[in-house]
Amino acid sequence: MKIFIDTANVEQIREVSGWGILDGVTTNPTLVAKEKMDFETIVRETCAIVDGPISAEAMSTRSEDIVKEARKLASIHKNIVIKIPMTEEGLKATKTLSKEGIKVNMTLVFSPAQALLACKAGARYISPFVGRLDDIGHNGMEVVAQILDIIDNYGFDAEVIVASVRHPGHVVEAAMMGAHIATVPYEVLKKMFKHPLTDQGIDKFLQDWEKVAKR
Ligand code: G3P
Repeated sequence: MKIFIDTANVEQIREVSGWGILDGVTTNPTLVAKEKMDFETIVRETCAIVDGPISAEAMSTRSEDIVKEARKLASIHKNIVIKIPMTEEGLKATKTLSKEGIKVNMTLVFSPAQALLACKAGARYISPFVGRLDDIGHNGMEVVAQILDIIDNYGFDAEVIVASVRHPGHVVEAAMMGAHIATVPYEVLKKMFKHPLTDQGIDKFLQDWEKVAKR
């Protein structure tokens, strides 16, 4: 499974890239708004750090404007993927852009029906928001399973990005059901490699090794 980081913080991207496990990056307007850097600088710096798909969101609402914005963003770097929200105008723009070879990540997907339309429009990535579904009492991972079945049934050239990840359990579930990608916030990535028994084990080994060194 590919692991992306869901952030617009360049320092977090740099750190996690150094772990050797990072395959790509997703950002969104809310994440960009938390940073002091301007959007284009964030995108350019991210492309210089990570050699993988980097999702940047188009904020226009009419399909012609989305297409214009997407072309501009895509011209920044070959790895840019255009994140487009799941709307009728977004679908139209996705069709146009996919024909031009510009990759689209259809975002704010909350149902398998939306995912089916996104696949048919030519979206290369589909982003179901599992945490936000869980937040309203639905089962986000169930929607991911349905979308994976649809992609598999018809051989769509699309990958699922499990998004709105809240905890390591979401990532493990995604991996167990064969989701292609999980985009994971920095704090959740940190939790993924932590285990109290690992820490205790290291402490014990270090203490015992000191005894050996004193011999
Ligand atoms: O980047 C899209 C998605 O991962 C947002 O997550 O935590 O705002 O629901 P969240």
